[in-house]
Amino acid sequence: MEINSEEIPFDVRYKLLTGTIVPRPIALVSTISPNGDCNLAPFSYFNIVGHNPMALSFSVAGIKPNRSNKDTFTNIAAEEKSEFVINIVNEAIAVKMAKTATVLDYGVCEFEYSGLTKEKSLTVKPYRVKESPVSFECETFKIIEVGISKLIIGLVKHLYVSDELLEDNFRVNQSKLKAVGRMAGSSYCVSTNLFTVDDEKFFPL
Ligand SMILES: Cc1cc2nc3c(=O)[nH]c(=O)nc-3n(C[C@H](O)[C@H](O)[C@H](O)COP(=O)(O)O)c2cc1C
Repeated sequence: MEINSEEIPFDVRYKLLTGTIVPRPIALVSTISPNGDCNLAPFSYFNIVGHNPMALSFSVAGIKPNRSNKDTFTNIAAEEKSEFVINIVNEAIAVKMAKTATVLDYGVCEFEYSGLTKEKSLTVKPYRVKESPVSFECETFKIIEVGISKLIIGLVKHLYVSDELLEDNFRVNQSKLKAVGRMAGSSYCVSTNLFTVDDEKFFPL
């Protein structure tokens, strides 16, 4: 079927994108309000921008049912040099991660609500998720508005990687990481059924 993107309703656009761009990594994003209230929410419109400098992006698409901005965006937009932590989601915390997507009033913290544990970050104010195997402490570099979406680009100031994941020369053991991917709707996939393709003729860096 040939589909003109402008002639289909919003929900069909969403279904076609989230059903075909799969699996998507999940950023469990921790922020803090100017009053010091913590916030935690998952975002699967998430990826690497580049490695020099280390930069990550995720997109806040849409608003809360009460028509205010999502709390994550409100906190990030509150200051020019705002901070956030992107925590990687593994199988062990997938169910709790999904709970953090619940719409709560601004200022109500999803850490307590989901049962995930706050851990102090080393270089930024927002907390890390203690149970997460990898946490990227970021400073906001740029916010780009694309229609109703806001693409947030952050520079990684510091990162935590669980010791047990690291092998020789900083290779990450994927079978131990057990990262979870988002598929369409409420379906997810695991990343432990791996295969290799021996055709790396390009220079990876
Ligand atoms: C796995 C998962 C991925 C999600 N990805 C996104 C996303 O990329 N962008 C987005 O705007 N909302 C996404 N959501 C929905 C937000 O997490 C949800 O709107 C949340 O309530 C926002 O919380 P906040 O208001 O505390 O920022 C996702 C939800 C789940 C469960």
